[in-house]
Amino acid sequence: MKFFVETIGCQMNVNDSDKITDYLLSEGLEYADDVLQADLVILNTCSVRFSAEHKAYSFLGRLSEQKDKNPRLIAGVVGCMAQYAGKSIKNRFKFLDFVLGAKELDKFAGAVSKFIETGGVRKATRKSGVFEYVTIMRGCGNFCSYCIVPYVRGPEQSVSVDEILAETEKCVKRGAKEIILLGQNVNSYNYKNIDFTGLLKEVSLINGLERIRFMTNHPKDFPDELIDEIAANDKICKYIHLPMQSASDYVLNRMNRKYTYGKYKLLVEKIRNKIPRINITSDIIIGFPGETDDDFKETLRAAEDLKFGGLFIFKYSPRPNTSAYKLKDDVSTAVKKERHSVLLERSNEISKELNGYYINSEEKVLVDAYANGICESRNSQNIKIFFNSAKDLTGKTVTVKITKVFSNSMSGDMREI
Ligand code: 5AD
Ligand code: SF4
Repeated sequence: MKFFVETIGCQMNVNDSDKITDYLLSEGLEYADDVLQADLVILNTCSVRFSAEHKAYSFLGRLSEQKDKNPRLIAGVVGCMAQYAGKSIKNRFKFLDFVLGAKELDKFAGAVSKFIETGGVRKATRKSGVFEYVTIMRGCGNFCSYCIVPYVRGPEQSVSVDEILAETEKCVKRGAKEIILLGQNVNSYNYKNIDFTGLLKEVSLINGLERIRFMTNHPKDFPDELIDEIAANDKICKYIHLPMQSASDYVLNRMNRKYTYGKYKLLVEKIRNKIPRINITSDIIIGFPGETDDDFKETLRAAEDLKFGGLFIFKYSPRPNTSAYKLKDDVSTAVKKERHSVLLERSNEISKELNGYYINSEEKVLVDAYANGICESRNSQNIKIFFNSAKDLTGKTVTVKITKVFSNSMSGDMREI
């Protein structure tokens, strides 16, 4: 029996899909190279923006045609959209065999067991990638006014330190070199009085683990000890994803972000002073209800002032249940598009300018992938770096002298090893 897992959405979903994959492999099922070859298809959904839901509906439309041709196909939907719109998905796509919300993934084995033929040749597990995700917190308790996550993933909960260490060790044993600790706000990690800084110290003691990354850090509570730990600990990547969302205090307040632009800027400056080569990236939502041209200009000016290594820019999308859902979505699609493209263009120029400082620099990079004579790697700052190599160096750390920069990547020549 062959299976296929389609994943939409964030790293948390990628991590859940990896767990599903591990489970199915351990039951003796095999990967299908594409969805059309599969006897079992799992769709892992996201509900953070309408566009993600639209993707899921299109996928299910195509899957329904596949089911018409192959009535023995087993299909299930999991994830955030399944959590809050499970009933309507079941009603609309009657062919589905099971629908399981993001909070119910522990029931996955039970849900598929009656459909799958177990007892095939048991594979050990999925081969680890160079980097692997480890979930350290589930849910979110921040209730930013636009965000559906607290409603679909539930309240904030920290995973126990033991569980995190065991999961990390398992990944490292399977070949992972880098671990990415995941949570909606890792800064509020707390398990029996061990905070996120304490957790980082423990995780970094694991032998064979070369790099630690994490996301996401909420700007409202970034302790000094954490900044100092990132600066001092060689295993911790010099990369922080610090969503600003907007630089207008009026908009930030309506978003319930609990900081002002002034406070955010001070934090960025403090981090940069203490960690010299840090790369800070950010998320921005444009077109939040009530965002005027002037509000947008403040965000644009902040992007120019703070010079992020990269920006993820999203058009505001009203989400059911959230408190912003009651506000009128009054920025037109045309204006959202215009603001999106202006900010993106400026942001790309800025990241290219920042990457320019790396020209001729010798970067220590970890190789994640190899294809057609080209290694794809990242430095500690999480910038993608490509270089030619006759050998597949996946999983190795090498030194690359940077010769060319773009806005989202760089390329160079490997120093002979
Ligand atoms: N509309 C647009 N963007 C959103 N995000 C979260 N909710 C919404 C929404 N309703 C963005 C935020 C967050 C990122 C993961 O997704 O910028 O940081
Ligand atoms: Fe959503 Fe805010 Fe929680 Fe992030 S911190 S998941 S934006 S509610």
